[in-house]
Amino acid sequence: MAIQWFPGHMAKARRQVTEKLKLIDVVIELVDARVPQSSRNPMVDEITAGKPRLIVLNKADMADPAVTDAWLRALKSEDVEVVAVDAKHSKGLKQLITGAQKLMKEKHDRMREKGRNPGPIRALIIGIPNVGKSTLINRLAGRNIAITGDRPGVTKRQQWIKMKGGEMELLDTPGILWPKFEDQLVGYRLAATGAIKDEILNLDDIALYTVRELHARYPEQLKERFKLETLPEDGVELLEMIGKKRGLISGGYVDFEKASELLLNELRHEKIGRISLETPADHEMA
Ligand code: G4P
Repeated sequence: MAIQWFPGHMAKARRQVTEKLKLIDVVIELVDARVPQSSRNPMVDEITAGKPRLIVLNKADMADPAVTDAWLRALKSEDVEVVAVDAKHSKGLKQLITGAQKLMKEKHDRMREKGRNPGPIRALIIGIPNVGKSTLINRLAGRNIAITGDRPGVTKRQQWIKMKGGEMELLDTPGILWPKFEDQLVGYRLAATGAIKDEILNLDDIALYTVRELHARYPEQLKERFKLETLPEDGVELLEMIGKKRGLISGGYVDFEKASELLLNELRHEKIGRISLETPADHEMA
């Protein structure tokens, strides 16, 4: 989904989430496990203040498992649970429910002591576009539901979607938040993983950022995928070498644009293996 965020849209998105908070017990914040910090909304702590929060590292199937473990440890705090999930293939959904139950345990225990039935946990899924909100809602519901964002001018009654096991109910419209645009590195990380459209940033720049990151973090996977014996230090040379290997030559020169497209395509389709583009240590959180 391509969304243009302007200050008015941001204020509206924020208002919509704030209104829904009154209806729910737990906020489920979805992020991309490959770039958990860059795919967070910069104001999410403030927007969801006071609500127990479950951070879901989605697309864990595409991320480096060791880095995901490090994020699970780094993001957990007293009132924040963190789980890794692969919504597309319905993996990790049990841990997600257990995480939500942990957050509600004290409150539910108190209710039970007073002879009250706590009922299902009511949750709202929030996150920036493309992190997998619709996919997760569908998998948790166990059926395909047409999920639409909040449309301007259309007031729709909130519907609760019952989950398969009955432990939880979800609001049918997820809260769509905006990413942090001001930071160029965040833009590159989101573009490299396909969360934002290539047109927003220059394709060559995204590919150069990506090839440098892969060189620094996953040199062996890069060598193996493109059958390279050594990796030149320089990003431009490395990308040219990849283009040459794949025969992307035009007029005697490597077609840089085609090489850029190829690299990003292969990364996004997991051809280079499981890759994470940021770690807690990058943010001094480890
Ligand atoms: P959104 O509501 O937050 O905007 O995201 P949405 O569910 O539409 O998911 C965006 C893309 O991410 C979809 O791919 C979806 O299949 C994929 N996705 C969601 N969760 C996971 C996951 O855990 N693992 C993997 N590997 N992919 C995931 P798409 O290419 O847009 O659609 P499709 O080709 O899968 O139909």
